[in-house]
Amino acid sequence: MPEPLKIFVGDAVVPEHEARVSVFDAGFQSGDAIWEGLRVYGGRVLKLDAHLRRLEESAHALRIRLPYDRDGFVDAIRRTLDANGFVDDTHLRLMVTRGSRSTSGMDPRNAPEVGTLVVIAERKPVDAEPAPQRLRTASIRRPHPQVVDASIHHANQLNSILARLEVLDEPEVDATLMLDAFGYVAEADTANLFCVSDGAVSTPFATSCLHGITRGSVLAISAAAGYPTTERQLTLFDVYNADEVFVTGTVCELVPVTVVDGRRIGTGSPGPVWRDLLERYRDEVRADVARDTEL
Ligand SMILES: Cc1ncc(COP(=O)(O)O)c(C=O)c1O
Repeated sequence: MPEPLKIFVGDAVVPEHEARVSVFDAGFQSGDAIWEGLRVYGGRVLKLDAHLRRLEESAHALRIRLPYDRDGFVDAIRRTLDANGFVDDTHLRLMVTRGSRSTSGMDPRNAPEVGTLVVIAERKPVDAEPAPQRLRTASIRRPHPQVVDASIHHANQLNSILARLEVLDEPEVDATLMLDAFGYVAEADTANLFCVSDGAVSTPFATSCLHGITRGSVLAISAAAGYPTTERQLTLFDVYNADEVFVTGTVCELVPVTVVDGRRIGTGSPGPVWRDLLERYRDEVRADVARDTEL
């Protein structure tokens, strides 16, 4: 039997079977919560500042008052990692819900002034050699900013879940590709998407996809490596005819995509630009981890 996980809830670290939020919690009742997925390498949280900044910006957009300042978040993460004895190969899920309501009802005024923090740490090593993914385009679209701004990293993942449900019974499909309201490529259902065509690297504008932190790193790494690198509108035609496609995220790093909607991408095997960018990304991770930061 594995040791029960130790979870940070509110202001204490408790065993997982004691970790509870209320049935009146706004996150539970309405998905009224924000979250970050982080990765720990060699005892350090990768791009912690960027993740905390995105959390603060999402909280500001939703008028959720965060329960801690930066030092408080660092302390909560440190306490969670220490309680579990995790120093590497760890995934952190950091959530802030609007808190436990005085009564059911979506009105944010029913929630307390300050949100509730939950930090979950789980051992999830990265795949040294990630398995190529096969994607299928979902019929459901990523919302336009007039509906829900994709920059808000909110906890209501029904849009992605509905997409994934479309391929649940298809063993030859690993995940979905999602289009925006106008039919342009947005991203995969839990990761940002990149194309490589004639040596140039491109990814959709972040209007209907999350401003991924890995996406930002890959854009910078790709440009610094000398690949022509752009954010632009991409269609499915561009994806089908790309030499390479890959997806990015903190949890998965960079994963090659070899099939989209039954079309083989490029040679049908993970490509050289993806591999080069993955190696450069891992070099940057090692350099970041070696830096003497608090976490
Ligand atoms: C919808 C979606 N796209 C992309 C990503 C990847 O973002 P990041 O690179 O910041 O982990 C995530 C991660 O949470 C996500 O939920």
